Amino acid sequence: MNAPDNERGIWSSKLGFIMAGAGSAVGLGNIWRFPTIAGQNGGAAFVFVYLLSVILICLAVMIAELALGRHAQRNPVGVYKTLAPGTAWKYLGILGVLTGWGIASFYSVVAGWTLGYVFKTAAGAFINLGPDEIATVFSDFTTNPVLSIGCHAIFMGLTMLILYGGVKGGIERWSKILMPLLLVILVLLVVRSVTLPGAGKGLAFYLKPNWSALTGKSVVAAMGQALFSLSLGMGTMITYGSYLSRKDNLISSAGWVASLDTGIAILAGFAIMPAIFAFDLDPAAGAGLIFVVLPNMFNKIFLGNLFGTGFFVLLSVAAVTSLISIVEVPAAYFIDEWKMSRKKAVTIAGGGAFLAGIPAALSGNFLDWMNVIFGQYSLIIGSLGVAIFVGWQWGASKANAEIMQGNPKFSASTAYAFAIRFMAPVSITALLICLILFPDAF
Ligand code: PFF
Repeated sequence: MNAPDNERGIWSSKLGFIMAGAGSAVGLGNIWRFPTIAGQNGGAAFVFVYLLSVILICLAVMIAELALGRHAQRNPVGVYKTLAPGTAWKYLGILGVLTGWGIASFYSVVAGWTLGYVFKTAAGAFINLGPDEIATVFSDFTTNPVLSIGCHAIFMGLTMLILYGGVKGGIERWSKILMPLLLVILVLLVVRSVTLPGAGKGLAFYLKPNWSALTGKSVVAAMGQALFSLSLGMGTMITYGSYLSRKDNLISSAGWVASLDTGIAILAGFAIMPAIFAFDLDPAAGAGLIFVVLPNMFNKIFLGNLFGTGFFVLLSVAAVTSLISIVEVPAAYFIDEWKMSRKKAVTIAGGGAFLAGIPAALSGNFLDWMNVIFGQYSLIIGSLGVAIFVGWQWGASKANAEIMQGNPKFSASTAYAFAIRFMAPVSITALLICLILFPDAF
């Protein structure tokens, strides 16, 4: 097919894809954003709406991305060039590549903070500090340009090292090591958190739906968070789908990734909510929750330093397997479309994202702004584009034919056609309109 076939790769097995796909999906979004947003939007009530968004809307988009990628065996730009040659659809792929750069740039900055906090917590930097001093440590750390840019550089460097190893030898190999590690650390933290004296209040908050805290904004937040968390809308799943074999079952692969992602987000809430309530902290503390509120809690528990260090290792591990999938999108574009070697493609993709992240490393406002543009609007527009493309341009019947490769008994083609032609585009358009009306929803 294409010249750089030898530079492209393929997963060694369905399990390889599931680990890499779940590695992409499970990230800062699950462990940092999900419990924060759930805390602000009524706990269990939010989780319920979130589940509906995943099942009714996001799964259809994920299957669409995987089908596109596997069918064309190309990066997002290549997919549209192959399936709709000579049309403007290729700009949707270009938006995906640019979004990859945009998200990678600020994601790596926050991931760098988590890595810095692994060392800070391990070294006991928070011991004997009061809440105000802990808040000052965070602001001093994030506003120190050398530390902030340095940690961003180290994190992006690690990501690039994994990507140099290729699809099987880098992404899959590391995802298979890091995802089980992540699960073990998370389960240990959940056990510690739910057995704290006073954890019951947090469990009640998280398990008993508070419908009155659920507003229109919460629904917008749930849908937006679900798209971000499942890595949809910028072509990550197109790219990872392009490394799938025709023998693999797309429906069950997507089902596994979505279930692992959702299960881990919910588990992260079990690690965080009981701990917050046990110490009378604020579940709606927002972005400072992880870096300011939790170190206060770790200060107060037995072996807190160890659990605190484990928590930041968890965040770093979750972040690196996501960041590799984000940087892989521009890298795959360079390999396929510019016929570059993997080494050169990863260097340009990762190096470019590092440079683009410097302003976010220097200014929290700029970081927030990048998140709004790329983490919210671009992903929503990209997901809408994928649904319209698969539902109406390429055609639901072609998508169904692709799904049936590796799943000949697939019997839900009518339901899938309805989901991708109507349900997904209508609800994602509504999401876009609502986000314009309530820009601070999530
Ligand atoms: N899903 C990742 C998270 O929850 O942190 C973030 C992400 C990865 C977003 C890949 C978009 C993407 F394409």
